Amino acid sequence: MRKPIIAGNWKMNNTASEGAELVKALKPLVKEAKCEVVVCVPAIDIPAVKKAIHGSKIRLGAQNVHFAEKGAYTGEISANMLKEYGVQYVIIGHSERRAYFGETDETVNKRTLAALAAGLTPIVCIGESLEEREGGLTEKVLDNQIALDFQGIEDFSKIVIAYEPIWAIGTGRTATDEQANETIGYIRKRMKKVYAGKNVGKMRIQYGGSMNAKNCKGLMAQPEIDGGLIGGASLKPADFAAIVNFDK
Ligand code: 13P
Repeated sequence: MRKPIIAGNWKMNNTASEGAELVKALKPLVKEAKCEVVVCVPAIDIPAVKKAIHGSKIRLGAQNVHFAEKGAYTGEISANMLKEYGVQYVIIGHSERRAYFGETDETVNKRTLAALAAGLTPIVCIGESLEEREGGLTEKVLDNQIALDFQGIEDFSKIVIAYEPIWAIGTGRTATDEQANETIGYIRKRMKKVYAGKNVGKMRIQYGGSMNAKNCKGLMAQPEIDGGLIGGASLKPADFAAIVNFDK
């Protein structure tokens, strides 16, 4: 059995004090959660949010990590720096980073290996654009990301994949339950083939893209979908809690 994991990606929202307020409101709403609950917050919010989640089931995640252990990389944050603050998860390769900040499959792979080496759980994002989906290229794009982003990983039970079709992010246009289930099933099948013998069966795959309090039940009922990576709806405690409590 794969334990469901619901993670909020706050993106560049909430100052430290706003973030602390948000999780304080969230805490009582998710205290009976059966799934893993994660908030991936802006790096500068980490100390305040860490304090605010104390004594709850909410776990702490970051939104990026550098691949070097340390050194002359102005503006970057290493896996050990995150780890020391009690961060347990880190989003890697989000499509916004790929589109706006020069993230490539090669750097996604390097960051993933660095996160694993430090004992963090990477949440690696993959997915196709609208043109790619409409051009019938979805599987080809995913095959390519699968081949390049995960090289050198020995134990896939330690990573989470977020399948985020770019056309569904922040657009209100969600993949249908069947589309999400089918594509995630494809990713799992392909990964099992490419990374045979490396615990792929235990790896969780989330869906991300306009997941909300209304559509979460249908998506989470799909057998291949092990959780969600939530953007907009994670900024509202009641909405995020409704997703976390999808099984109620
Ligand atoms: P939205 O839920 O706002 O569509 O964002 C999804 C996402 O990008 C999560 O990483």
